[in-house]
Order: sequence, then structure tokens, then C-alpha cells
Amino acid sequence: MEMRHLRYFVAVAEELSFTRAAQRLHIAQPPLSRQIQQLEQLLGVQLFERNSRQLKLTETGKFFYSHAVQLLAQTADLESMTRRVGNIERSLAVGYVGSTLYGMLPKIIRRFRDENTTVELSLHEMSTMDQIRALKDGHIDVGFGRIRHEDANIRRVILREEKMIVACPVGHPLSLLKPVLALRDLVGETLIIFPKTPRPSYADQVLAAFHDRALKPRQIYEVRELQIALGLVAAGEGISVVPSSVHGLKRGDVSYKELDDPTLVSPIIMSMRALDESRDIRELLELIYRLYEEERIPYVPRADLGR
Ligand code: BEZ
Repeated sequence: MEMRHLRYFVAVAEELSFTRAAQRLHIAQPPLSRQIQQLEQLLGVQLFERNSRQLKLTETGKFFYSHAVQLLAQTADLESMTRRVGNIERSLAVGYVGSTLYGMLPKIIRRFRDENTTVELSLHEMSTMDQIRALKDGHIDVGFGRIRHEDANIRRVILREEKMIVACPVGHPLSLLKPVLALRDLVGETLIIFPKTPRPSYADQVLAAFHDRALKPRQIYEVRELQIALGLVAAGEGISVVPSSVHGLKRGDVSYKELDDPTLVSPIIMSMRALDESRDIRELLELIYRLYEEERIPYVPRADLGR
């Protein structure tokens, strides 16, 4: 049995007339009748009752019809899906930590999509550690995170070191104290850190910054994510140390202050499978450096490429 038999049979079953079915199929009626007879012989059953004046499906014909239409629909789906796969030559799954959305990530994604229209790009929010696993499992192709995790199977590129800044409630004494703050100026405050889980995370980079300088905030308040930290800062519940790109998130009730120590930074790290030399990853990396140049954003020189 061939697909042609199914198409002819479905047309006759739906039109209940050989003449109309032949017109619909753009073929002559005699070959259509022959094909249906051939199909009945092949199956060894009668699909149509031809005795009455009107052509009717037999019970077997009705059964065959319901399956034939499904099969034809599946074939059409298969055709269109295969065409789509053929046209989408490439796909790229990107993992990212939430805080990178306040930096260059949206611009990078928009530009990559504009320049690579045949690449199906998908975005997946996940922690840096989850990105490592997802890269190994093949669920993502590239990850953008902040944790310097060593893994022989993963290639890591430190793109840039983003300055940390302080978010404090508008009108708070710290916001009026001096133009640039020192970390020690914050010890009398409640420090709001994020994300609470999973760890290690950006929260640990902030805690390490205090610890490395033998400083201890008065109180630590862990919250799920950056937006909650900012909301609580706005409410006067404490201060938060955030990546400087958050500054772009203008809020009338939060003021941002720079820190005086240039080593107070959080890296933005691109991770990929060690042996993945794919064109998409190369192009994505090229595009990121191009954008840094265009926007005059300081970045770690490319010679630092490595694991
Ligand atoms: C950036 O802000 O530099 C950045 C963010 C996400 C991915 C790559 C770069």
C-alpha cells in the first residue's frame, strides 16, 4: 500500500463520489476507480458499498478512513517538521544567572538573534553550578555565571570583572555620607544578600569581600533574589551590595553608591564544553567583545581565554 492509495481513498470517502473526488485530486475518474479497487484487493476487504445509488463507506471502510486521515496528517507534520529542521541549521541553548540580565545579556541576545536568523536560540535561567551540569548533560551549550568553578570538561572565559556597588535607601545617612564608600562603612548596617540558594553564589562573593577584610556586618539577611533585595532596601530594611549593572534599574527609592576598592568585583564568566569548537559559540564570543568595544565597557583581555 502506498501513500497515494490513502490520499485517493480519503478523497473518495469524503466526497462520496468518484467524480467529485477525481476533480479534487485533479486526475481522471477511471484511474481513480482502478486505484480504489486495487486498494480493496490489496487489503482483501470491501471499503465502499457500491450497490446503492449513493456511494457509502462499509463499516471496514469507516475504520480504515479514521486511521487513514490520521496517517496523512502525521505525514504532513513529518514533512513540515523535517523542512523546519533542515532550515534551522543550528540551535544554541544558553544558561544564565538572573543578575546577568541587568548587564549586557539582553543586548547580546538581541544582537545574536539579529545576526543569526537561522539559529534557534533558547534561554534558561539557572545557577552557575547548574550550568556546569547542564553543559555536561548537553541541555545547554553555553552558560553565563559568576562562580569560578574548576572542571576539566568545561572551558571558562572570564569576560569582565563587574564592580560591586552599594544599594541603600534614598535619604539613608550612607547615601549622604560621602561620594564613594568603603566596605567598612557598611558594617553597622543589615546586609541583604542574594540568592539564598543554591550556594556557592554571588551571595558568597559579597560575604567573602567582608571576610577577607576582617569585617563583619551587624546583621545578614538572606533573600531569594536581587529584586527582593532591592525591594527590601527601598523599604529601609537594610543595604545590599549589588553588581554595578543593577544601577541601570532606576528606582526612585534606592540610591546607589560606588565603593572605593577596585578589587571589589564580581566576574561574568562564560562556560562551555571543553571540546566544543562550534561556530555558534565562536560567533557569540566575538559578538560579546564587539559589544564591549562599542559600548566602551572594560573587559578582561582575550588572551585570558582558558579553562
Ligand atoms: C555582561 O554584562 O558583560 C554579560 C552578561 C551576560 C552575558 C555576557 C556578558
